[in-house]
Amino acid sequence: MSSKTENSEPQINQLVIIGLGLIGSSLAIAAREQGLAKTVIGISRRTSTLELALELGVIDRACDSLEALASELDFGDLVVIGVPTLSVPSIIAVCHEFLSDRVTITDVASVKGSVVKALLDVYGKLPRQFVPGHPIAGSEKSGVEAANSQLFQDHRVILTPHNTADCEHLSLVSALWSDVGAVVSTMSVDEHDAILAATSHLPHFLAYSLVDTLASVGDNREIFRYAAGGFRDFTRIAASDPVMWRDIALANRESILSILDQVMDNFQALRGAIDDGDQDYLMDVFTRARDARNHFGKLLENKALQGPMTEKAINYRISPGGNARGDVRVPGDKSMSHRSIMLGSLAQGMTEVTGFLEGEDSMATLQAFRDMGVVIEGPERGRVVIHGVGLHGLKAPAKALYMGNSGTSIRLLSGLLAGQSFDTELTGDISLSGRPMGRVADPLRSMGANIETSKNGTPPLKIRGGQRLSPINYLMPMASAQVKSCVLLAGLYAEGDTSVTEPAPTRDHTERMLRGFGYTVNVGQRTASLTGGGDLLGTRIDVPADISSAAFFMVAAAITPGSDINLQHVGINPTRVGVINILRQMGTQISLSNEREVGGEPVADIRVEYGKLKGIDIPPDQVPLAIDEFPVLFIAAACAKGTTTLTGAEELRVKESDRIQSMADGLVTLGIDARSTVDGIVIVGGELRGGNVLSHHDHRIAMAFAIAGLRAKDEIIVQGCNNVATSFPNFIESAAAIGLNIQVEAHND
Ligand code: S3P
Repeated sequence: MSSKTENSEPQINQLVIIGLGLIGSSLAIAAREQGLAKTVIGISRRTSTLELALELGVIDRACDSLEALASELDFGDLVVIGVPTLSVPSIIAVCHEFLSDRVTITDVASVKGSVVKALLDVYGKLPRQFVPGHPIAGSEKSGVEAANSQLFQDHRVILTPHNTADCEHLSLVSALWSDVGAVVSTMSVDEHDAILAATSHLPHFLAYSLVDTLASVGDNREIFRYAAGGFRDFTRIAASDPVMWRDIALANRESILSILDQVMDNFQALRGAIDDGDQDYLMDVFTRARDARNHFGKLLENKALQGPMTEKAINYRISPGGNARGDVRVPGDKSMSHRSIMLGSLAQGMTEVTGFLEGEDSMATLQAFRDMGVVIEGPERGRVVIHGVGLHGLKAPAKALYMGNSGTSIRLLSGLLAGQSFDTELTGDISLSGRPMGRVADPLRSMGANIETSKNGTPPLKIRGGQRLSPINYLMPMASAQVKSCVLLAGLYAEGDTSVTEPAPTRDHTERMLRGFGYTVNVGQRTASLTGGGDLLGTRIDVPADISSAAFFMVAAAITPGSDINLQHVGINPTRVGVINILRQMGTQISLSNEREVGGEPVADIRVEYGKLKGIDIPPDQVPLAIDEFPVLFIAAACAKGTTTLTGAEELRVKESDRIQSMADGLVTLGIDARSTVDGIVIVGGELRGGNVLSHHDHRIAMAFAIAGLRAKDEIIVQGCNNVATSFPNFIESAAAIGLNIQVEAHND
């Protein structure tokens, strides 16, 4: 609604503004410029202010008191109390005594609790005509000279109407603010005062305090002469009107004291850390704050946060030969990292994750939840703190959620998002945009979800919110942990029991982690089920090293005579150990030590030594258990004596690239007899020569061919290795640490 009616008649008859400070006079001049009232009347006790206001064209008419004007005001007139916070009660007393209850009244004080208290004191109840308001706009300038008709443009105005406020009065006030360009929202008085204490009042007091401290230091002229940059930015608001801020400090006493206490505790701890030289503490605080600031900055710019990758193409040039010796801890498990963010965000309370994979895939998941309003601190050296919002606490993102290269993000998220009240769109990079999504869209539709894919069944996914989901018993046609997880996560939002039965065991991190968050999941031979409508409770998660990343160095050791590699703290979930079983069967020496359970997942150190490799027929039951490790296992097969045959692995054709074809082509380039079949590959071991191979923008293909360099006769160049950062951001450094020699070259694409 607008405060001008359709035939352009102003809806406000007389707009009366009491107090011609920055806010009052800016509102007056904006209303005049836009013809929002028939007459704009300014009230001030100072004649000079009124004269100036008339001269500057801020008001149409001047008056020295409300008493003098009150008898002229009636329905359709709007009185705005624009005086400093502590003077509001005396004006409220005048309103009560002299104004008709048909006149609309609002105020602009920065504290609302004190205004409501004054209303109760004076009226004995909350008057229906009074709509408390607060424009979040201002400047360090004050007075009628600073009147600025654009001051409220795109700024927020918070109204805190009480239950008994009359909607005619509310809509008149709301329309006035919208018409001067503000974005109007409403909230409770308590919420307003607590939020403003933290976001506006506290920064002003910090700025005043800092400037005051420096001003009282010995030769402060020198200090101020050199104080530029940070000092100037930080203290700009210390030039604000002292009366106004004195009033705010006293009027919002409780909320301000509470946040000041928290900051003082933080300051004490910071002081202690500086005194003790505690670098870790300082890094933790500064990094957390920086990440939070970036996050808020992006929220303020209203951006969905991550764009597609546009940097230069990276190639690997791998010198032939090298060692495979040493102790390595590879980055955190990708599957668990994704799930920790998803479940942590949907839990109640805080979740602390350590060992989180800071790769692009898991960061895409993290970013998506930030885009949906979840506050997530970090990652900082693998530590992430998620402030869970509960199963129903996500907010609509401003833009499409960008999932980059990550199949796990898009498929698991599609299940969660099908149960939300808002619409979402999920997009990805070129590789992800070609991957099949019907496998998740189909079961979700049968649960009642409204989800659209492209004509080919690929991303983008458009998911309509507000659907009621029904539980299903899903017989999954392919062995896919992503599909299983998607359906189970949607099942959290369905009424009743959802179950998924898989044709072969797939990774069960979702089931384990749900239990870690206190959610009951029943797991049978091949079926997992849960009942919707429960709660997840925040927890701690220690993510072990990713066996899929460790696999590259396991194969490095397996193919290099004289090797001996120890991989620390690797997740050895029974649904992921196909690579160990297959390499052992081919002749590699692998021993596990220090076996333990961490947060519901088995973990061990894995020692791998060279042993003569022989070709094998890979047992079909190992396929889902080694699904991500085949690219590098094919390198082991190329270095083995005899033939290795893989069947039943058609899923490899729909990974980040067609991994059967990508590997067969690259191996042939390197002189190996490799033949792809519909659902697998046949590789005859031989001598690897050098050559130029393509990664097809697939991280695991790139890393597999990098490992091949250990046994190649000549240099191998792998083209298009940027996506290694999706799962193994420090691959080059770790590879160098065990003795590989890889040069990274950047090219314009
Ligand atoms: C994953 C499941 C597997 C795997 C992928 C991660 C997961 O995919 O290839 O890298 O985290 O659930 P499928 O479930 O499609 O086989």
